[in-house]
Amino acid sequence: MNALEAILSRRTSKVLVDPDKPWEVTGSLKEFLPEILLAAESAPFHYPAHRSHKHPDHDSPVPWRIHCLDGEGCRQLLKIIRTRDVAAGKIPAMLAAAEYLALTTWLPTPGDPSDNPGQYFDPTLENMEHIAAASAAIQNMLIAATARGVPNYWSSGGLLREEEWMKRLDIPASQILLGAIFFFPREETFPHRPMEIAPGKMRSQKGKQSSWVRFMRPMAENP
Ligand SMILES: Cc1cc2nc3c(=O)[nH]c(=O)nc-3n(C[C@H](O)[C@H](O)[C@H](O)COP(=O)(O)O)c2cc1C
Repeated sequence: MNALEAILSRRTSKVLVDPDKPWEVTGSLKEFLPEILLAAESAPFHYPAHRSHKHPDHDSPVPWRIHCLDGEGCRQLLKIIRTRDVAAGKIPAMLAAAEYLALTTWLPTPGDPSDNPGQYFDPTLENMEHIAAASAAIQNMLIAATARGVPNYWSSGGLLREEEWMKRLDIPASQILLGAIFFFPREETFPHRPMEIAPGKMRSQKGKQSSWVRFMRPMAENP
């Protein structure tokens, strides 16, 4: 599959399995993960991450971090979630099937909290571009996975965004979760297993191209 074919065939695929009967981990995506991470690494970025995010083991200037759980880790997380009486939506059903979960954060440049009290993050151009770069890294992973026939899904993370779960996953509070990216076994490996594949809710809502693109010329005069 070439790059354009992969981009055009990418789609949200939520592989949902009965959380009481999680799939055995196959390890079948091990060979693809390095490529998927390389695709993330190939994303552009404009500004280096703020120095406060530098960690001896993770000192890259890229404004994203990827915290990766393998299949075993997904099943362990599923177990922990199920011991707690929490509303977790479809997350358990996907943790029961996933071979990898890439919890992808972006690294906000801190501002002066008194400038924007109660704000989630400092609303600067630099932070907007940090989010943009981290989003490009995620999209690259989705496309690489698609090119290799790996069903994938970009979730906001649901309960995993909450402080308790971020702590359990040892994700620094200074990082903001941008996506919990699920990678599922390739479809040919689960032809007879009971499951459902749910599409993205907004898939058919994108509208015609003419509703979001326009071709234009600049005005010579100041309007
Ligand atoms: C930033 C971001 C967060 C998303 N979070 C969720 C989510 O939490 N739950 C969900 O069902 N879909 C989520 N999606 C996936 C969208 O539902 C999906 O992209 C949309 O329905 C279009 O379908 P497609 O990906 O097949 O084109 C997210 C997508 C993006 C870009």
